[in-house]
Amino acid sequence: MTHLDDRTMTSSGFYVSQEAPIVSDNPVPTPQAPAPDILRCAYMELIVTDLAASRQFYVDILGLYVTEEDDEVIYLRSTEEFIHHNLILRKGELAAVRAFSYRVRAPEDLDKAVAFYEELGCRVERRQEGFTKGIGDSVRVEDPLGFPYEFFHQSEHVERMSWRYDLHIPGELVRLDHFNQITPDVPRAVKYMQDLGFRVTEDIQDDEGTVYAAWMRRKPTVHDTAMTGGDGPRMHHVCFATHEKHNILAICDKLGALRRSDSIERGPGRHGVSNAFYLYLRDPDGHRVEVYTQDYYTGDPDNPVVTWDVHDNQRRDWWGNPVVPSWYTDGSLVLDLDGNPQPVIERTDNSEMAVTIGADGFSYTREGDQDGTYQGEASKGFKLGNQL
Ligand SMILES: [Fe+2]
Repeated sequence: MTHLDDRTMTSSGFYVSQEAPIVSDNPVPTPQAPAPDILRCAYMELIVTDLAASRQFYVDILGLYVTEEDDEVIYLRSTEEFIHHNLILRKGELAAVRAFSYRVRAPEDLDKAVAFYEELGCRVERRQEGFTKGIGDSVRVEDPLGFPYEFFHQSEHVERMSWRYDLHIPGELVRLDHFNQITPDVPRAVKYMQDLGFRVTEDIQDDEGTVYAAWMRRKPTVHDTAMTGGDGPRMHHVCFATHEKHNILAICDKLGALRRSDSIERGPGRHGVSNAFYLYLRDPDGHRVEVYTQDYYTGDPDNPVVTWDVHDNQRRDWWGNPVVPSWYTDGSLVLDLDGNPQPVIERTDNSEMAVTIGADGFSYTREGDQDGTYQGEASKGFKLGNQL
């Protein structure tokens, strides 16, 4: 369900409106307890099946810095990070996500997180000593959408490597930028995340009011996490930022030189949504990693919400290049607090892939021009030929 009345078409071909033109007809109740004050997405804990293969991918190829490691777990951080880690690789039997972790402003926010989620009837676990090395008092929950969310404030500080140009590589990953989650009911997810203090910056909808994806932020960029419509709960990707576009091209060149081009799933390209330059990679377990740069500032209280038409084939790639089907269909399982995979629930709303590509889908380059693709009817949704 959406409120499309107050939107304005821009000269760039998308709509803008004020705050979150999305309404849920199946909302998670709003707790009376105030939400914790979340600063930013801080780290993801991944279970990987071959620690050596994952270390080669994330350390030797992508150049993340090792804060600590042993035979079971590797703690990694990006160049500018001063907290203990942005990514944990933990050895396990089943490739999955163990935690999406957010940093909160003050220790008291952890009490708020407990009260907020207990009121929602969620499973909540708090450990004064933290769940991982380097992180203090923490709260982990199975949230109303089935995701393992963590909140913490205290972290060991480590050296920020920004000045260590002697160690930097051409594809340097400088910050953790965002998570992306797959969930069946995007409006329900958006309402819950708004109650948690997030604000919508962009979304993808159709004229019937189906919402296909939404981007939400705490820090003043396009997002800390996005909700992508699909069978879930699953993790779609974790994203690191580079300073410049050329850093992303350097990663592609390196993967080619290493005969690892099959790690490149999609891109490089320019997103419509977020305006960022992007690349999607798959790690040795299939976990998807995005590399991303140059989205925009969103911190003003009246920051316009951008709404894209699902049939606009520049929404996912500004140059109109096709989205590969695996990008729509594949995702990583997420774990409950006991370490068991959460059951995946099927999306019942329309699928973005089905409505935009293939025999039954359509997309356009110019609105009102449904044959705006170069190959006409046979390749609707694709710029050059039909890749399905
Ligand atoms: Fe992303």
